[in-house]
Amino acid sequence: MSVTVLVGSQWGDEGKGKIVDILSENYDVVARYQGGANAGHTVEIGEKKYILHLIPSGILRNNVVCVIGNGVVIDPVALLDEIKLIESHGINVKGRLFISHNAHLIMPYHKLLDSIQESGDQKIGSTGRGIGPCYTDKFARKGIKIVDLLDKEALESKIKLNMEEKNNLLKKVYDHEGLDIASIVNEYINFDKVIDSYITDTAAYLNCVIDDGKSVLLEGAQGALLDVDFGTYPYVTSSSPTSGGACTGTGIPPTRINSVLGIVKAYTTRVGNGPFPTELTDETGEKLRQEGSEFGATTGRPRRCGWFDAFLVKYSNMINGVKSVAITKLDVLSTFEKIKVCVAYELNGKKMKSFPTDLDRLYKVKPVYETLDGWNEKIDDSKSYEELPSKTIEYLNFISEQTQMTPEIISVGPKRKQTFFVKN
Ligand code: GDP
Ligand code: IMO
Ligand code: MG
Repeated sequence: MSVTVLVGSQWGDEGKGKIVDILSENYDVVARYQGGANAGHTVEIGEKKYILHLIPSGILRNNVVCVIGNGVVIDPVALLDEIKLIESHGINVKGRLFISHNAHLIMPYHKLLDSIQESGDQKIGSTGRGIGPCYTDKFARKGIKIVDLLDKEALESKIKLNMEEKNNLLKKVYDHEGLDIASIVNEYINFDKVIDSYITDTAAYLNCVIDDGKSVLLEGAQGALLDVDFGTYPYVTSSSPTSGGACTGTGIPPTRINSVLGIVKAYTTRVGNGPFPTELTDETGEKLRQEGSEFGATTGRPRRCGWFDAFLVKYSNMINGVKSVAITKLDVLSTFEKIKVCVAYELNGKKMKSFPTDLDRLYKVKPVYETLDGWNEKIDDSKSYEELPSKTIEYLNFISEQTQMTPEIISVGPKRKQTFFVKN
């Protein structure tokens, strides 16, 4: 049995939710390892569309157990809303969802600081879910954990200590009146009633199920280029979406991970600010946005669109250790006469040897494109690799060669059935 990490290989929204849903048919447990409700993972089953933010996408399959690992930051309000929503679809969550006692809590002041910081000079384009400020507190050793919900007195004193400092900051630096400590204490000391039954030592649980020969799928959120270490810093998220983050975010050691599956969109998108070398700000970009319905699953913001960047994905595959990939949204390219692929970056007239993550160079690089013929026919009914038009296969072969990855899964539409495995 296996432990597989599924990682986004670009700037997020590659279709992770859909692919997790497909794969989870053959896994016992699905676990999230980082990020929080900034994620928006879409799964379409029949006529129903689910957008999951915190709960692993495996929850939609009744036989799968889901885990929110220690590396995730949890907004209890968002979590309870999501549980309610899933249950309203007749899906049972109790007994199938476990939350790490070590995961950190998103507090109202994290969300407030997130929005205040976004109104300053450096606009990251954050989702406003409090992610950055929560991880800041975690690493500053001031965070409040899920386990703290279980001891009301200790929780109250931790909230008070944090909030005195935060209110000082809000008043003195941000000219804000501050937040009411008593009402936040009151709100948070009541969460244990509803969350208690989900809390456990998930690191011990996950290692135990692996000992029992069960399989675990680790569902990454965001994407490699949003990684706080390897992404386009500072235009990143505050966690480690890359495969390395799966170990620290769950307590599953590297020696127990059997494989890493990357996931790429057949072109590139990005939400929020920051460099994007293959971005198309013309009518071709607009066409990609419309054909691909590229609007954020969490915030509804229009996604920035551009051609597939093989130079970027090659870098991402190196960091993630990806050899096999799922390629999504291939159907979106069906109406393009010509399709471009970026194969290298040029800086000051010279080809770059490696992907630059510093802003200075990334804003200046010139993408070098190869142009391929489009296939000009619908592929959203295709049921196998062999059924795809020859020009589509040429495109897949080209991007695979350029990025040294092997396509394992192809997705030609948002629905479960619009997916097939490639026989390699
Ligand atoms: P995630 O964050 O990686 O899970 O991706 P999102 O859910 O944010 O965005 C992917 C979007 O593309 C969703 O609306 C999916 O329903 C949709 N989608 C996934 N795969 C395909 C595909 O192969 N073709 C098309 N047309 N849409 C897809
Ligand atoms: P999924 O899991 C795409 C982006 C935001 C912003 C930056 C920082 O659905 O692929 P944050 O709220 O984390 O402080 O925002 O990261 N971002 C995402 N972009 N998909 C996501 O998640 C994202 N989560 C955060 O737009 O640019
Ligand atoms: Mg998304």
